[in-house]
Amino acid sequence: MEQVMENQNRTTNDCPAVARQLRCIAIGSGKGGVGKTTVSVGLSHALVDLGYRVLLFDADMGLANVDLQMGLEPKFTLQDVVYGGCSLERAIIASPGAPDVLASSSGAREMVSLNEVRREMLVDELISFSARYDFLIIDTEAGIGPGAIAFLQTMPQVNIVVMNEPTSVMDAYSLIKILSGMPHPPEVRLIINNVKSEREGLILASRLNEATKRFLGRTFEVSGIILHDLVVGDAIRARQSVLHFAPESAPALGLRNLARSVLAANKARESSKALSRSAFETITKIGNDGKVSA
Ligand SMILES: Nc1ncnc2c1ncn2[C@@H]1O[C@H](COP(=O)(O)OP(=O)(O)OP(=O)(O)O)[C@@H](O)[C@H]1O
Ligand SMILES: [Mg+2]
Repeated sequence: MEQVMENQNRTTNDCPAVARQLRCIAIGSGKGGVGKTTVSVGLSHALVDLGYRVLLFDADMGLANVDLQMGLEPKFTLQDVVYGGCSLERAIIASPGAPDVLASSSGAREMVSLNEVRREMLVDELISFSARYDFLIIDTEAGIGPGAIAFLQTMPQVNIVVMNEPTSVMDAYSLIKILSGMPHPPEVRLIINNVKSEREGLILASRLNEATKRFLGRTFEVSGIILHDLVVGDAIRARQSVLHFAPESAPALGLRNLARSVLAANKARESSKALSRSAFETITKIGNDGKVSA
């Protein structure tokens, strides 16, 4: 409780020093199960603790999703807003000292097609609603399927979570390659997760960057390195962010450093980080089955 109060005092609405321009960070990965949701939740909490207003949007339909990790039970989701006429306001889950959350659901609801006028209205509503926030953090679907790529390519910045397993590294490389080949590629950065030491993380990042340098002609910055610790699983089981469950743990420290690095990177190039209308259009196209329709 004390923690909540402490966070509440440190956060949100009237922190004048905080820039009010919305910055959007999508968290993606080539392979599933590498820590996207853990990172999305932890980064969002760390930014809230620094005094920023954060909307955490769950655009992944996986089982281990944001609401589960945060101990939330969403009554309404984005799909209720898009297809069911629910207001955005009602679909947002707000808790003191925590990021606001907009959940997604894959439902058995009847597929309703959205006419373009309604979609455009919704896009306008999403844009004006997002202006309340400093950061939009998006937990996305893993992989290089058309749905994931359609979504990620509209994002201004994608942070790709990688861990030290050949499949994770290969799949991250494939995702980077596809995104880099897009006509207007997002800025790609790397988050190394679940490594035993900072050094292991740096080595992994440089191995991946050697490959991208050789075959794609460029390298990618590392946003953060988060160490392996079983406390992450304990925090998930307790349905809390690891930042609050074990604030002094190595992963909590890594997530706070990640937040600072995200802030620094997005301060320097704020103007290029503007979230385009097409990104909001893509958000409204996440269908009832959780996939972005073409
Ligand atoms: N730094 C870490 N240390 C220890 N365990 C971790 C760490 N990061 C993630 N994990 C574990 O990895 C598992 C997967 O994490 P998470 O659900 O965040 O991955 P994901 O990429 O979102 O998965 P999915 O692709 O299924 O959505 C969890 O059980 C979590 O406990
Ligand atoms: Mg996940």
